Amino acid sequence: MLKRLSIRHKQLVIIMATSTAALLLACAGFVSYEVFSFREAMTSNLSSVASLIGNNCTAALHFDDRAAATQVLNTLKGEHHIIAACIYDKNGRIYASYTQDQKPFPFPKPALTDSHEFGPKYFDLFRRIDHGGERLGTSYVCASSDQLSIRVEQYVGIIALVLCPSLIVALFLSLRLQRFVSEPILQLASMAKVVSVDKNYALRAPPQGQDEIGQLIDGFNEMLEQIQARDAALQAAHDQLEKRVLGRTQELQQEIVERTRAELSLTQQLTRINLLNSITRAIIDRHDLENVVVVVLRELEEHLPIDFGRVYLFDSQSQMISVAARRYQGKSQYAKIDLFAGLTPLKDTGLDACSTGEIVSFPETSSSQTAVAMKLHQAGLHSALAVPLRVENELFGILLAARVAPKAFNSEESEFLRMLSEQVALAAHQARLHTQLQHAYDELRQTQVAVMQQERLRALGQMASGIAHDINNALCPVVVYSDLLLQDTSQFSDVTVRNLENIKTAGEDIAHIVCRMREFYRQRDKSDSLVAVQLNKTATQVLELTRPRWRDIPQARGVVIELETDLEPGLPEITGNGSELREALTNLILNSVDAMPEGGKLTIRTRAGGWDRSPGAATHVFIEVSDTGSGMDEQTRRRCLEPFFSTKGKRGTGLGLAMVYGIAERHEGSIDIESAPGRGTTMRLIFPVKTGRDRLPAGGGKPATRVPALRVLCIDDEPLLREMLRQILENGGHTVEVADGGSAGLEVFRSAVRSDNPFDVVITDLGMPYVDGRQLAQALKAESPRTPIIMLTGWGSMMKEDGDVPIQVDGVLSKPPKIAELYEMLGAVTSKAKAA
Ligand SMILES: Nc1ncnc2c1ncn2[C@@H]1O[C@H](COP(=O)(O)OP(=O)(O)OP(=O)(O)O)[C@@H](O)[C@H]1O
Ligand SMILES: [Mg+2]
Repeated sequence: MLKRLSIRHKQLVIIMATSTAALLLACAGFVSYEVFSFREAMTSNLSSVASLIGNNCTAALHFDDRAAATQVLNTLKGEHHIIAACIYDKNGRIYASYTQDQKPFPFPKPALTDSHEFGPKYFDLFRRIDHGGERLGTSYVCASSDQLSIRVEQYVGIIALVLCPSLIVALFLSLRLQRFVSEPILQLASMAKVVSVDKNYALRAPPQGQDEIGQLIDGFNEMLEQIQARDAALQAAHDQLEKRVLGRTQELQQEIVERTRAELSLTQQLTRINLLNSITRAIIDRHDLENVVVVVLRELEEHLPIDFGRVYLFDSQSQMISVAARRYQGKSQYAKIDLFAGLTPLKDTGLDACSTGEIVSFPETSSSQTAVAMKLHQAGLHSALAVPLRVENELFGILLAARVAPKAFNSEESEFLRMLSEQVALAAHQARLHTQLQHAYDELRQTQVAVMQQERLRALGQMASGIAHDINNALCPVVVYSDLLLQDTSQFSDVTVRNLENIKTAGEDIAHIVCRMREFYRQRDKSDSLVAVQLNKTATQVLELTRPRWRDIPQARGVVIELETDLEPGLPEITGNGSELREALTNLILNSVDAMPEGGKLTIRTRAGGWDRSPGAATHVFIEVSDTGSGMDEQTRRRCLEPFFSTKGKRGTGLGLAMVYGIAERHEGSIDIESAPGRGTTMRLIFPVKTGRDRLPAGGGKPATRVPALRVLCIDDEPLLREMLRQILENGGHTVEVADGGSAGLEVFRSAVRSDNPFDVVITDLGMPYVDGRQLAQALKAESPRTPIIMLTGWGSMMKEDGDVPIQVDGVLSKPPKIAELYEMLGAVTSKAKAA
């Protein structure tokens, strides 16, 4: 508890405790002394009384005089402090006794020797009574202890009286004096507290005397001084350290800022390199310009990013630019802006510097007066860069990138776009080359396909012609002899005449088929009559002629074919052979009818068309036949033009479209076929429109030829044909001689010349053993240049087409020759010879 008290109270407690203890000890000593002295005095007093009594009672004892003894004892009545006394005989019996107030008193047993004893209430004293060395008895005196108690009480009162004021004085003094000690200590303590709390080492405790407290304060002050000095040094060191730390921190911060900047720039560079890489990768595989441009713009808009991007292509010839990948619409709201619609001269845009390879920059579009800057500004785009796309130092296009914010492109981005432009230019250029190459390749392939088709058709044509030649040769006699027989029918019965007519018709039908077979290969003959043909009229005629096939016959089966005619009024005329065109159209209509066994819709449409749609300037007309029939699969569509290609089995010869093809070719036209299985077919015949100069008068036949009687030499290795020719010509009133080969013919001709009866004309076959038609013609012309030579051959038409006619030959006739044709030719060559 003491430890917890303040030093002042501690001092007070110590002083008070010390002084109280000292005073109490002093009082105790005094009281003890007084009690001791009082006892001593009492002992000596009672001892004297006992001795006196003993002495006075000796005689009484000796003589056994109790009364005397009692008398002696009664003398004690004056002694107030003695409350009882007695004399014991030598046997220890009470001989005489005295009590102060006559009351019985408990006398103790006598002691054998002199003794005394202090009890709490009484003081007992025994003395021997001797006489003459003999013990007579013992005297006993008892005094009350009250006096001692009273004495002690008095002392205690006195002590209390002295102690209280002494303690009060001591307290007062200690209160006053302890300040000399406690106050400086308390001051020091409070100062230490202030110093420790405020860390103010400049404070000093006021100096005290030279005692220990003074020394303590001095020591404390000195310690403070040292601490202050150390604190100052420490503060200085701390300040210096702080300064260094601050400096270093600033340096580090600066370094961090620089590093961050470097890192940012590196990251941006990396991002751009990545972007460049990804764009390069993306465009490297793209071979069409549009795709390349779209990829570049999309990547730039998403990753650079820019708000608006366009690529313009530059045409060095016209010096115009136009938007590449027009269909591309970016995601931004500016994507739909159209800066330059269509073709725009480069010099009008304000980007002409691009042509020298310079990047045109518009940091603020508002401050430039060029067209592109003004348009961008109007659109709300405030900064832009135009980067030229150049290949081999030639401007190829321009990449325009714009942003909403002004001054939004830095030099790195400009450099990036320049690098990108090189890649884009290369890729775009490559894509353009690729496209051109692709076009060239496609054209080549198409040409190749067309050539192959042509070759195929040509080969087929030649084959067909070969077959036709043989069939013709075989057919000639049939037709010609029946013709001959029919010239004079007087000797025949009616049945014979009818049979002959049937033979002739059948022969002619075969000839017609053969002819049809060859039609698709035949080239236009000069003798073909070309007239101005109105396709609308042709269509109407053919529809009328074929009406039974597309209406009546199907209707009889309950099938309805609906007809729609869509003929363009005022359709320009074309030049051609009316009957051929009718035949072609008939074939197309019949094919359509065949394709619609369950009925459907047949449409005939005519249109004028061409590059320039201004009225009267059509370059082409077409007539198309559409049906809603079965359509063709790819293979059928590819092969349908081939002769003998048919999917109709015995119902079709497969010559229809081959013929149509031949007819279209001869009219310098073409066939367009649109068809898909189940979706119907559209066959379109496209013909060029002839200019006024090319047009021919419509219609017109040839005048019949009258030939005077001639002397004719007929040379053919086939006897049937020789005889046939002889009969035809003799029927016509001509004189005919025949020869069975080239050398025989030459002989006959020479002998006639020698006998001065030369031939007026020679008709010769082409293919003969030993001396063929050509050699013969050569020899004849050498000998008689004025004699006309007609060549009669199964290859007639082909020779004319191929320009294969020998110059010595004046005319070529195909087998089997029609009589009219033969006479016509005879007339033509002989009149020509006469004129010469
Ligand atoms: N309008 C059409 N619809 C469907 N297939 C057609 C059509 N026109 C032609 N074809 C197909 O082309 C083939 C050849 O036609 P092409 O006219 O040459 O011969 P064909 O009609 O079979 O016989 P032909 O005309 O000699 O009687 C036909 O067999 C048919 O398969
Ligand atoms: Mg047909």
